[in-house]
Formats: sequence, C-alpha cells, structure tokens
Amino acid sequence: MIKHLSNGVMMPMFGLGTFRVAPGESAYETVKYALSVGYRHIDTAQMYQNEASVGEAIIDSKIPRNEIFITTKQLIHSSVENMQKAFDESLRKLKTDYIDLILIHWPNHNKAINQATWAFFESLYERKLVRAIGVSNFQRHHIIDLLETAKIKPMVNQVELHPGLNQIPLQTYLESEQIAIESYGPFMKGGIFEEPYCEKLQEIADHHQATITQVVIAWGLHRGIIMIPKSVTPSRILENYQGQFLELSSHEVSEINALNRGKRVYTDPDNNSWSTYQK
Ligand SMILES: NC(=O)c1ccc[n+]([C@@H]2O[C@H](COP(=O)([O-])OP(=O)(O)OC[C@H]3O[C@@H](n4cnc5c(N)ncnc54)[C@H](OP(=O)(O)O)[C@@H]3O)[C@@H](O)[C@H]2O)c1
Repeated sequence: MIKHLSNGVMMPMFGLGTFRVAPGESAYETVKYALSVGYRHIDTAQMYQNEASVGEAIIDSKIPRNEIFITTKQLIHSSVENMQKAFDESLRKLKTDYIDLILIHWPNHNKAINQATWAFFESLYERKLVRAIGVSNFQRHHIIDLLETAKIKPMVNQVELHPGLNQIPLQTYLESEQIAIESYGPFMKGGIFEEPYCEKLQEIADHHQATITQVVIAWGLHRGIIMIPKSVTPSRILENYQGQFLELSSHEVSEINALNRGKRVYTDPDNNSWSTYQK
C-alpha cells in the first residue's frame, strides 16, 4: 500500500522500524533480511546510531536506491551550520545523496526554535536533498505554532499510536491539514499481548487465522496510518510483513478503536526535557 504525501511523493505505508536495533551486525543483518523478504521502507534516526549499518545493508542488497524509502530523524535543534553538519553526516552514513523523508525527532518547548529548525528543513527540501519533510512527536498545538511561519506544510507526523492510544482526534486534525500520520510503538512495548487489549485482538486474529501483531498492523493500515513495526527476529520480520496483506472489516477496526485508553507507553511530548537547543 502506498501513501500519496501532500507533495505527490509515494511513501510505502508499511516499513521496518529500527529503534534499539544495535549498530553493526544486528542492524545490518536485520535490514538486509527485511529487504530480502520485500520491505522497501526503513525508518531510522540519528539518535539510533545505526544509520551506517542501515546504509551498508541497503547498498549490499543491490536493490536500486530509488526503490527504497528511507526516513531519518534530525535529533538536534541548533544553528543552521550545526544542523547542516548533522544532515550531511546522515547522508554519509546512509551512503546516499538524498533522504526520502526527514523528521524533526522531538519538538522543542519554544515554538521559535521549532520554527527555525523547520526553516532549515524547508531549505533541504528546496535544495532537493530530501523528497519530503515532516515532524515527529508533534501535538496539535505544536503543528499550529509551526504553521504560523511555515512556507511548506509538514508532510508527515510520526507519533506514538497503537490500540491503547488510537490518536483519532490527532489524525482527524492532521488529515484536515493534509498531513499523513505515522505510528510508532504499534505493539505498546508488549502491551497488546496483555489485557485489556489481548482478548479482543486475539478473537479477531483467530477469526482470520492471523496473529495479534498482524491484526494491529492491518488495523493501522485500514485507518490510513503508516506502520513501521520493529523486529530483529527473522520469523517476526516476515510475520509482520505478511500482516500488511490482512484485511479487517470496518466493524473489526471500530472494535479495536474502542480499546483506546489514552495510554502512553512512551514519553509524553509535552512532558519531557529532550530536544533542547544545542549551541
Ligand atoms: N519518533 C519517535 O520518537 C519514535 C519512538 C519510538 C519508536 N519509533 C520508531 O517506530 C518503530 C517501531 O516502534 P518500537 O520499535 O518502539 O516498537 P514496536 O514495533 O511496537 O515493537 C517492537 C518490539 O516488539 C517485538 N516484536 C516485533 N514483532 C513481533 C511479533 N510479530 N511478535 C511478537 N513480538 C514482536 C520486538 O521484538 P524483537 O525485535 O526482539 O523481535 C520488539 O521488542 C521504531 O523501531 C522506530 O523506528 C519512533
């Protein structure tokens, strides 16, 4: 499945997450295996410190660069010079001369800082060093502030999203601004295998002779959400890949939506001390 971003760029709606995939052999083998079974979208970040291994696996896969969609995330809010340096480092490590999608990893609490980082992203886009630009962990209010000065709207917002935190209000807002929504943490750090989520998910999985993780992936895709589950285990990488082909009924999707508890398993973007401005 493909998501047409607001600028026409086609983004595979299913991909591989690589948070906490150790740099070196683990990241290299994981990405290489995922590409060999059909993944064409890899999500990494400067913070994950595995861009070099991801880049190496992509080169060694021999798959043409333009058939693979690479997302990375800029960690720092800083001077243009420092941000350009960090971006150039991502290009070098990923062994490519362009990035498909770059995201601001975390919002700063000062809107002027987010706006300045965004202006830098716009310059990357205008110089054709990136095919699309977006944000991550932005709440509605962060986006509203960003749009005050943005010349180009973000094309994607990647946020924590899973059965315990369905993010329907945020999705509705983002869609009104033509911003695609992308899920991270789809398996809730294992929470989907526990109550109050697992009974309903297992019932739907049994009905389709599928697994709980496949049901969660299919639920997100049915709602138009970009899904990037992470695994370093070959059998799970394959299982998750096959999950994208599972079709749920609208009723089943509503039943999963109803599991929402407003439950975060990751940090609340409004309540963290990260993403400070670095001189
Ligand atoms: N923008 C952000 O701030 C942010 C934050 C967090 C994550 N992300 C992105 O989103 C991606 C996905 O989120 P995530 O890594 O936090 O978590 P996730 O995809 O929800 O879950 C990964 C965990 O689930 C296990 N798992 C994977 N497939 C499974 C299966 N079929 N059956 C049972 N267990 C399975 C994995 O174990 P094994 O690996 O041991 O198989 C791993 O422990 C990240 O990798 C990253 O790319 C972004």
